[in-house]
Amino acid sequence: MNLTDRLLVKFAQPVPLRTWIVRKLVRSFPIGSYEARLRAGAVDRPWYAWCMYYAAIEAKTIGYKAITAIEFGVASGSGLACLCRHREQIEKLLDIEIIVLGFDSGQGLPESKDPRDLLYCWPAGSFQMDRAKLEARIDGRAELKIGDVSQTVPNWQARVDAPLGAVLFDLDLYTATSVALGILTTSNVLPRVWCYMDDIMGGPDNAYIDNIGARAAIRDFNLKPERTVCKDYLSPAYAFKGLQQEAWHQQIFLYHRLTHPRYNVCVSGKHRLDLV
Ligand SMILES: C[S@@+](CC[C@H](N)C(=O)[O-])C[C@H]1O[C@@H](n2cnc3c(N)ncnc32)[C@H](O)[C@@H]1O
Repeated sequence: MNLTDRLLVKFAQPVPLRTWIVRKLVRSFPIGSYEARLRAGAVDRPWYAWCMYYAAIEAKTIGYKAITAIEFGVASGSGLACLCRHREQIEKLLDIEIIVLGFDSGQGLPESKDPRDLLYCWPAGSFQMDRAKLEARIDGRAELKIGDVSQTVPNWQARVDAPLGAVLFDLDLYTATSVALGILTTSNVLPRVWCYMDDIMGGPDNAYIDNIGARAAIRDFNLKPERTVCKDYLSPAYAFKGLQQEAWHQQIFLYHRLTHPRYNVCVSGKHRLDLV
């Protein structure tokens, strides 16, 4: 797009220009609390920060000292590096330990014959990883689980004192996302796990419908017979009261496990920050 077209599109967005300027400035010169910056959308990838921050608050409120956060689909590591930067701030702010993990094949998107994997826009081999570069970039701040998720997810368990609290799903494919969603059903999770689903909306060239991609994976997860036994569900989170609507709000989901032993512990106590 040429400059004129880019300006035309940018300035016609519903986000007012002053908001865009304030966000840019606050990202470079942070003022106010972390929570205020997050709610103002003035942090990198607010959707990553949102999931990790509110998982950490919830964990603290119900008595945990550590949590685990996972990114599914790492590629060159921009998302994982962002998660690590937020982790540093949230750990200090809330005095909690956050373990960060990244799951990826290490070889880009795998071969598939399943049309629900949107083969028409995600060819095998896309998003190749340069592992040495990634490791240098992450510099030990996150653990990498390299391999197809069908191998790495089934035996994974969170550290016993660090329940799973946040999961960022960015695997692109129906098949991979279906497997990865299984992580939510492992035993050591918070009663509610914040999730970000990257691949449920796109542009005209990768527009999703409910029967393909991550949308279909979520629907199938909720339809599995175990759900009625475990009483655990994954649904969009209606958590943005008081905020101007933004596209990414639709990508924030919450997994609730109603049978979790701490599900009913009241979280509106003194550790809970003022949310609205
Ligand atoms: C869009 S990229 C992730 C981008 C990254 N989250 C970011 O924000 O920079 C998708 C990644 O999913 C990984 N992936 C897809 N299917 C996979 C599978 N079955 N097992 C492991 N990784 C897979 C690919 O290797 C690819 O790196």
